[in-house]
Amino acid sequence: MPAAVGKSLRAAAVLSVAVLSFLVCLLLGSVRHLGSGHEDLLDEELASLRAELNHQLSQRRQEILPLLSPGRDKELSSAWDSNLWGELTRGSSTSAAGSPLGCGALRDMQPLEVLGSGYTKLVVKVTLAGGEPVALKMVNENGIDMGKCVEGFRDTHGCRQLVSYKLSKEVVLLHRLRHPNIIKLRGHCAGDAGGRVTVILEQGNPLQMLQLLQSPWEDRFRVCLDLVRLLHFLSRSPLGSVALLDFQPRQFVMVSGELKLTDLDDASAADTPCSRHADCSLQFPHRNFTLTCSASGVCEGLNEKMNIYNAYRYFFTYLLPHQAPPGLTHLVERIMNVTGELKSGINETLDAFEHILHLYQSGLHLDQLPPSVLRDYNVTRGMTTSGNSEYHCWPSYSQQGCVLSVHGAREAAHICNSHSQCTSFTLTGQKTWAGRPLATFRSSFSLMVPDETSEVYVKKSTAV
Ligand SMILES: Nc1ncnc2c1ncn2[C@@H]1O[C@H](COP(=O)(O)OP(=O)(O)OP(=O)(O)O)[C@@H](O)[C@H]1O
Ligand SMILES: *[C@@H]1O[C@H](CO)[C@@H](O)[C@H](O)[C@H]1NC(C)=O
Ligand SMILES: *[C@@H]1O[C@H](CO)[C@@H](O)[C@H](O)[C@H]1NC(C)=O
Ligand SMILES: *[C@@H]1O[C@H](CO)[C@@H](O)[C@H](O)[C@H]1NC(C)=O
Ligand SMILES: *[C@@H]1O[C@H](CO)[C@@H](O)[C@H](O)[C@H]1NC(C)=O
Repeated sequence: MPAAVGKSLRAAAVLSVAVLSFLVCLLLGSVRHLGSGHEDLLDEELASLRAELNHQLSQRRQEILPLLSPGRDKELSSAWDSNLWGELTRGSSTSAAGSPLGCGALRDMQPLEVLGSGYTKLVVKVTLAGGEPVALKMVNENGIDMGKCVEGFRDTHGCRQLVSYKLSKEVVLLHRLRHPNIIKLRGHCAGDAGGRVTVILEQGNPLQMLQLLQSPWEDRFRVCLDLVRLLHFLSRSPLGSVALLDFQPRQFVMVSGELKLTDLDDASAADTPCSRHADCSLQFPHRNFTLTCSASGVCEGLNEKMNIYNAYRYFFTYLLPHQAPPGLTHLVERIMNVTGELKSGINETLDAFEHILHLYQSGLHLDQLPPSVLRDYNVTRGMTTSGNSEYHCWPSYSQQGCVLSVHGAREAAHICNSHSQCTSFTLTGQKTWAGRPLATFRSSFSLMVPDETSEVYVKKSTAV
């Protein structure tokens, strides 16, 4: 194993340095075969295993073809489709039109750390020759998918090819399903006869549910809103209505505060055929639903409804109700009820979320706060404070003191009045994703210093 590869490694959280280096070797094609372990098998046994594996390989190919040219009898309609298909099946080291990065982009990359791994795939952060960080997805040689396949077929090379079809499927899906809440496909490399496929993606950070649970409501709401925008898109995507069959927080990453779907190999655009309503049941651990069987013999909105209920049970229940702003709780409760009971579709759900966002951004939910709360404060514009005595509040945007997002001075004054330690606050020029200013609350300060973007509000009764 080349020492140079090891040298550039930083702490690899999950796998050891050796494993990562080994993977990079695989990626670069310098390691050909793992032990194939079929010494103890008879020739005819091997032949029948090989036939079965070939059968599965061709099945996987058949699954991908309709994704390339939907609605058009398996013919590769566009040049891009046939290009991509050729590359993914035969291997090629040039980049396809529309996918700017190809195998060449990986030549002088620096592996940095393992970002995550699952049953099928391993994801590694690397920097490309130009210094740009990206995420590379490849077959997880130590994953359960590879393990089971090799155990059954005794053919590492064939199994890697089989598992690689999941990556190929993901490339095709990522190409067709472009949306701000789906991870951006930067390119791919289907490098060699080994059938290895490497997907080059925008780099994100795995969704940290525990960390998110402790974040301000505004950030948790954003994740749910992003999810609903994604599901709205998926319900009417270029491939039809898409269901995420394996819907878990670990299929998502965050890129600068935005939620993005990264695991698409379990996405399905298939309809569920039916002859009666009872054929259209949606089963979850604590809840079953029966949907309508349409006149044309398909379960109506099954994919869309499956996604909505999963969003409810994996995301909304944990992220949405807790600490919602008082003026919005009734709307949040309504969303919880309507999605938890599958009483409406994704259109109405998206409308309900966008309505909450609108109220929250415009401050309309604060109607009951009297403007008179500001009369207790003396305002100085173009200043900030120094020599502060801070106190803690929850959930603060800053570890040191009490920093909260507000609609404006009125809401901040209301908050300051409700904190016994608070004697002054500053509206800073900093804004949250929703465009709301951050306010810093404190018990005292020693002096004001000029700062164009800030305003200092001092409680009159305690003014310094
Ligand atoms: N673009 C990315 N940036 C950062 N981390 C990522 C990215 N893509 C994936 N990951 C991380 O890598 C993990 C594995 O990726 P992925 O879910 O595609 O593999 P998988 O084998 O299908 O996983 P699973 O068995 O959970 O379905 C993800 O859970 C995620 O935490
Ligand atoms: C859902 O349906 C299955 C199969 O019919 C049944 O076994 C299960 O008990 C039902 N669950 C609930 C929560 O009703
Ligand atoms: C929705 O509201 C109804 C009536 O108040 C209640 O019985 C039901 O449990 C609620 N469902 C959810 C999922 O919150
Ligand atoms: C949802 O909205 C889209 C337009 O965004 C519309 O075409 C579609 O028919 C709506 N679906 C339902 C079930 O109302
Ligand atoms: C308000 O601030 C000004 C200086 O900006 C100061 O002169 C005045 O005394 C303050 N008023 C009160 C009531 O604190």
